[in-house]
Amino acid sequence: MGPSGPEQRLPRRSRSGGEWRSTCEMTTQNARELTEESVEARLAELLGQERFTPPAEFSDDAEISDPQLRARAAADPVAYWAEQASGLRWSTPWERVLDDDDAPFFRWFEGGRINVSDNCLDRHVEAGLGDRVAYHWHGEEGETRDITYAELLDRTARFAGALKELGVGQGDVVGIYLPMIPEVVVAMLACTRIGAVHNVVFGGFSAGSVAERMEVSGAKVLVTTDGARRKGKTAPVKPEVDRTMGQLAPLEKIVVVRNTGIDVPMTEGRDVWFDEVVAAAEPAAPEPMDAEAPLFILYSSGSTAKPKGIQHTTGGYLTGVSTTHRQVFDLKADDVYFCSADVGWITGHSYIVYGPLANGVTSVMYEGAPDYPHKGIWWQLIEQRKVTKFYTAPTAIRACMKWGVEHVAPHDLSSLKLLGSVGEPINPKAWLWYWHVIGGENCPVVDTWWQTETGAIVITTLPGIDAAKPGSAGTPLPGYEVQVLDPETGEQVTEGEGLLAIPRPWPSMLRTLYQDPDRYRSTYWNRFGESTYFVGDSARIDGDGYIWVIGRVDDVINVSGHRLSTAEVESAIVAHPQVAESAVVAKADDLTGQAIVAYVTLQGGTDPSDAVVAEINAAVADRIGKLARPKRIVFTQDLPKTRSGKIMRRLLRDIAEGRDLGDTTTLADPTVVDTLKDRWDAGA
Ligand code: WTA
Repeated sequence: MGPSGPEQRLPRRSRSGGEWRSTCEMTTQNARELTEESVEARLAELLGQERFTPPAEFSDDAEISDPQLRARAAADPVAYWAEQASGLRWSTPWERVLDDDDAPFFRWFEGGRINVSDNCLDRHVEAGLGDRVAYHWHGEEGETRDITYAELLDRTARFAGALKELGVGQGDVVGIYLPMIPEVVVAMLACTRIGAVHNVVFGGFSAGSVAERMEVSGAKVLVTTDGARRKGKTAPVKPEVDRTMGQLAPLEKIVVVRNTGIDVPMTEGRDVWFDEVVAAAEPAAPEPMDAEAPLFILYSSGSTAKPKGIQHTTGGYLTGVSTTHRQVFDLKADDVYFCSADVGWITGHSYIVYGPLANGVTSVMYEGAPDYPHKGIWWQLIEQRKVTKFYTAPTAIRACMKWGVEHVAPHDLSSLKLLGSVGEPINPKAWLWYWHVIGGENCPVVDTWWQTETGAIVITTLPGIDAAKPGSAGTPLPGYEVQVLDPETGEQVTEGEGLLAIPRPWPSMLRTLYQDPDRYRSTYWNRFGESTYFVGDSARIDGDGYIWVIGRVDDVINVSGHRLSTAEVESAIVAHPQVAESAVVAKADDLTGQAIVAYVTLQGGTDPSDAVVAEINAAVADRIGKLARPKRIVFTQDLPKTRSGKIMRRLLRDIAEGRDLGDTTTLADPTVVDTLKDRWDAGA
């Protein structure tokens, strides 16, 4: 172990690119003739196929080709992770790989010092890769910008210098609220360069939720933008930020990226322009950080209305994301990788920013929506940039299926070699469509299961060696152990259903909830003890050890792969002055996976009207974001409650999903559900 050069871990050049290309071109010929009928017929044939083994051309050249790797890692997982970490550049070697003395507060690579931006940028530039493109950025109006590793380093070092001049130091929290523009990456990396802790808020969340997250994290600086573009429109961002952020005490500075060029108010002494401070700043050197220094906080929904500040640290997180990105995406030096997520979610953090950059990969970054300027934009970008690896979410795949193959057929997708899925269970039909229509039946599909908390992918198939079973994420990656436990006894289920658990620490795991160690303990480490991480998902494990994730067991709703909490939506709804009570549940949805249904009781004298619906929707959009607006609001005189006053959400879900209600005798007033069911059926 010890400081090591980047050469060891940088992806290898592909050996059999030529052969591969010819195979793919053949399939694309077919792909061009795709029609809805031909796809339908092919999917019907494939639906009976349980396993999909990796194409031979792929396996022959795979990054991970050793079927024994899992077993070797399992024999000594701590040594395995140390070996992975040694592919990074450490300024001081660690003394102890895993410190589990104070479980569940685990520490990895203790004593080691490392800088994330140094590993993502300087190390590659020093190795002569400065001219390699880090991001082919594409704007939604067709503009493009290529940013090389050398340019990204220069911008990052300068913005890091600027942050220092603004008074940001190690451990200070910097909020980032930006759309998908290159500056979001610069801002994140600049924080890591000087040991500041970033707190990125997804651009789709409202300014109100940004204010809340800035407040609870005590952010000193916020990096935002004048405005954001979405589907041809410009949304003012800075004025909204001003409206909600005005009163925040700890916030000293707001840095504004000039993006849309709209006129925005700037407060003297507090607000500065990003380009001006970058131009004026001295580049900052990367500061060696303790391996366990906080790297970022990312707020995520939990069982209560208060979002959880999931906190990741430096050395372990980078080890986890770089290793999994290389293994799961089978990285090669000539890859062009495209992840369609937003940087504001964990997928963006780990697999748009840190994993790809640590591995020196070239990525495509797209600003816009998948259907703007047209419904074939992703496939056009893949064709134009010759994308080799593509990573998206099941909800997006289902949307593309609905839009039709006509949007895919005109594009040459023969550069693709691997497809990834993340965010929710992928139904077999969507899996097969992805495999057949997008991958031309030549690209392994990796269904990757993980969470904001795990930091990196945990369960999937290793694309060169494992067969995929559509609908199952696969098995744990090397170095991880995952179990399915009986909810009653806590005993391991070897075949059957139960609760997902991780019985051993891993480097990229969350370390705590920001300033709330008690909630960290009670959320994750109470159910099965202090050394087994409680995931919060239920799953089935089959006889081959393949895991089929079923869904959340807490009150978290997964809408289009976005995690939202029922409690958070409820509290936004009841903030409406005429609302007395609200219960929010998830309903299965063909497109978004789950959709939000809100049952609402109004205060006496208020009639349910379209105006009230609009106001409730506006309140939710304002407090959380448009993505949290209920798909359906049902007004009711009463909610079904037990005699002790607890709302029976199960019944509300049953009503929304049209199931038989079964036993309702525990209800204080069983007639409530009958009325509700009638109202639901009547579309009220
Ligand atoms: C769900 C997103 C099934 C799961 C990376 C998890 C999945 C939650 C998959 C985490 C998958 C994510 N198959 N379910 N491949 N990937 N999930 O924190 O319920 O936004 O607990 O992280 O999404 O969502 P989060």
